[in-house]
Amino acid sequence: MCGIIGTIGRGEAAPLVLEGLRRLEYRGYDSAGIATLVDGRILRRRAEGKLNHLADLLATDPIAGTTGIGHTRWATHGAPVERNAHPIATDRVAIVHNGIIENFADLRTELTAAGYAFTSDTDTEAVAMLLTREMENGATPQEAVARTLRRLHGAFAVAIIFAGYPELLICARRGSPVAVGYGEGEMYVGSDALALAPLTQRICYLDEGDWAVLSATGAQVYDSEDRPVDRPIKLTALSGAMIGKGNHRHFMHKEICEQPAVIGDTLSAFVNPTSRSVVLQDLPFDLAKISRVTIVACGTSFHSALVAKYWFEKLARMPVEVDIASEFRYRAADMPEGGLALFISQSGETADTLAALRYAKSQGQYIAVLVNQPESSMVREADVMLQTLCGPEIGVASTKAFTAQLAVLACFAIAMARARGKIDALREAELTTALSEVPSRIAEVLADEPAIEVLGKSLIEARDVLYLGRGTAYPLALEGALKLKELSYIHAEGYAAGEMKHGPIALVDENTPVVVLAPSDAYFDKTMSNISEVIARDGPVILITDEAGAAHAPAQAKVIVAPTCDPLIAPLVFAVPLQLLAYQVGVFRGADVDQPRNLAKSVTVE
Ligand code: G6P
Repeated sequence: MCGIIGTIGRGEAAPLVLEGLRRLEYRGYDSAGIATLVDGRILRRRAEGKLNHLADLLATDPIAGTTGIGHTRWATHGAPVERNAHPIATDRVAIVHNGIIENFADLRTELTAAGYAFTSDTDTEAVAMLLTREMENGATPQEAVARTLRRLHGAFAVAIIFAGYPELLICARRGSPVAVGYGEGEMYVGSDALALAPLTQRICYLDEGDWAVLSATGAQVYDSEDRPVDRPIKLTALSGAMIGKGNHRHFMHKEICEQPAVIGDTLSAFVNPTSRSVVLQDLPFDLAKISRVTIVACGTSFHSALVAKYWFEKLARMPVEVDIASEFRYRAADMPEGGLALFISQSGETADTLAALRYAKSQGQYIAVLVNQPESSMVREADVMLQTLCGPEIGVASTKAFTAQLAVLACFAIAMARARGKIDALREAELTTALSEVPSRIAEVLADEPAIEVLGKSLIEARDVLYLGRGTAYPLALEGALKLKELSYIHAEGYAAGEMKHGPIALVDENTPVVVLAPSDAYFDKTMSNISEVIARDGPVILITDEAGAAHAPAQAKVIVAPTCDPLIAPLVFAVPLQLLAYQVGVFRGADVDQPRNLAKSVTVE
């Protein structure tokens, strides 16, 4: 949520910062800007809208300088207009900021009374003014930063440059991540290692409350008490080569098509193909003695949590609670002794999920995280990390991370079932064999993309679309509806098929398409009755089922035939036609499927 990047060194800063912003654009894209230092003065270029607008501006009106910072914004305070675009600057400092300064209104009142004139609606400007006041009163940049940080409430990451100090860049972290990159005679700062990937793989992550003073040759980190500290420099596994689109028109399409490979990679870390058993790392708790599992997540990751609930309850007979992170925090629920709290987050940075994790920790729970980013905040605070091996997911709407999460969750449920004696080795072997078929079954769905495209066309005029499913197909219905909303801006809702008669059916008419997910499982007949109810009211139906199901499809339904598969893996396989359908509708409608309006990939505000 907002991307920040900075550099200090030998080369021209602006092109390097602009390239870094391209890699960060997934974090926010309603405006962008760059500031550099030239002859000791701050120069700035800012533009409303996508990064291309800033690139065009820089092409016609370039800025020099070897020290610079840049920002791509997801608006929180103030409309997405140039005036509010970062860097926010005074004649003394320029600052880029990710997060929210919660006491900005009080600070603004105080500073306005002291004669400082604000020119933006941002919370960030209060920080710029505090720094400026300190420096006007004779503080060095370091002193000004240390004093200013003490005045700020909220969660943030900032990078700051100072007029008259071309050899200085300061960054700070509280809540939002900051990575410091070490180059050759050049130093970098970024919101994540991805932004810095082509520049360096030597990364130092600031700890909570840290701030760092960068020169071209190194960095000194200080902790929240302003004491100099050493933080380890790690080699990130990310490289610049991992973040291209390949031959695909969109990142999202590439990521949908990568699913067979990334699920294969992920499974190979959890399944021993010889013994056909699940292999987990050594856990700091006994799986057999866990009293309850609480799973907490946001967005698409929440939907994978909902699928996992069925697996943990059915396979492992384990009581499971699932909630969205924001509400979970506010409930202040008592958590049982010996409970395991599992947090699912592609990014490992989502603010609400991180806060929920800290609450569960305070309740004495074992903490496990399922993430795609092993170098993320949640991992640093967890007892156990489970990792999806997806590589970077750039498309803002999650696809491959979702199915890979499901793959890991299925393995975890199997391991727990085995540990609790609810399944035997033979059943474990059957289940892991089913899982090992996921990559091929998904490849079969991908081969059917042209047929899905045709059905996608039939949805482009829709105003509302309903998605229905039973059992594990219910959370998939939620996910299908979310994907359509995000990618096409068509209003869509997912429901448990059994709930349709309790309200949503009132919406059904010839203009409300209903997408029904119905593998030919134990619930198939009941879902078919729901389809009949829709057809009886002239509702157009798109049925996603397998071959056996297709044989029973009513003539009025348009059918997407997914491969026949074990019920355990149906959610992974059936997710893919939903993704393709939403993608195609979005593309037909001319939407920006990689960067849907108003969304951001990594939501580091609450
Ligand atoms: C944002 C993204 C979603 C994602 C959600 C949770 O809303 O647009 O695609 O599912 O955040 O993100 P996380 O990184 O915690 O899985």
